[in-house]
Amino acid sequence: MAVHKAVVPAAGLGTRFLPATKAQPKEMLVLVDKPAIQYIVEEGVAAGVRNFLVVTGRNKKSLEDHFDRAPELEAALRQKGEWELLATVEETARLAAVHYVRQPEARGLGDAVACAAAFVGDEDFAVLLPDDLILADPPCLAQMLAVKEAYGGAVVALEEVEPAQTQRYGIIRGREIDRGVWRIDDLVEKPTPAEAPSHLAVVGRYLLPGRLFPILAATPPGAGGEIQLTDALRVLARDYPLYGYLFTGRRFDVGDKLGFLTATVELALARPDLGPAFAAYLRRILL
Ligand code: UTP
Repeated sequence: MAVHKAVVPAAGLGTRFLPATKAQPKEMLVLVDKPAIQYIVEEGVAAGVRNFLVVTGRNKKSLEDHFDRAPELEAALRQKGEWELLATVEETARLAAVHYVRQPEARGLGDAVACAAAFVGDEDFAVLLPDDLILADPPCLAQMLAVKEAYGGAVVALEEVEPAQTQRYGIIRGREIDRGVWRIDDLVEKPTPAEAPSHLAVVGRYLLPGRLFPILAATPPGAGGEIQLTDALRVLARDYPLYGYLFTGRRFDVGDKLGFLTATVELALARPDLGPAFAAYLRRILL
């Protein structure tokens, strides 16, 4: 089932990464040689998404520049005969149609997604959080589209978390209807381990229907005083089939320092041009 539009919320304050995020969005922090947001756009493109709406905050200029043409840089690379680098720079601008909308205040993920109402209309759409880097083959969004193809409805990505971590996520209550596929009855945002209805957390990939927007518009602030996407999903699940999928792959929370560092190491080790030398270096310092 094709989904052509994706919303990429990038207007959070990124407080866990200060001072790096004081003057630039955390989505522009670089993992090896690409900003976090490029990985997510590439995952969307691989699943057939052609139009992206990035929800930005105040520091959006570098994001816009990244997906735009860079005529002076391109001319300089051409003059020097740096054809490979030129192709890399041009590809970034050609990757997809990337649009922008501003979230006036960081009022929560639900509010950020609500900013995409006019862009999405009443189509099905994806929400992709650049904080969650997922290494998977096939990519996580493609796996979720296959679930949507089979079951219809809305699909969110699930990951099993340690009981002590439930307070950081939206946690589902549901039943497994097929291998890794859960029919969701309810969700709770950031429950204590005692309150958590399961250990299955919703992570940053969603396939949602356009009918979510009027629900979001009516969603009051919830946990942390923010408008929570989870709260809108709870309302949606009352009369619309909502599924969760325990995807195959590994997720890194790159909005967190330790997650960012581990993702950097994994991505560097997997690179044919860097991996062997980097692995040798790591071996040397660990011995
Ligand atoms: P987070 O809660 O992880 O992002 O939101 P944050 O608030 O920027 O991070 P910390 O906790 O202060 O370090 C998850 C995603 O939702 C976006 C963020 O940019 C991130 O991609 N978001 C969050 C918005 O776009 N707007 C918001 O109001 C809140």
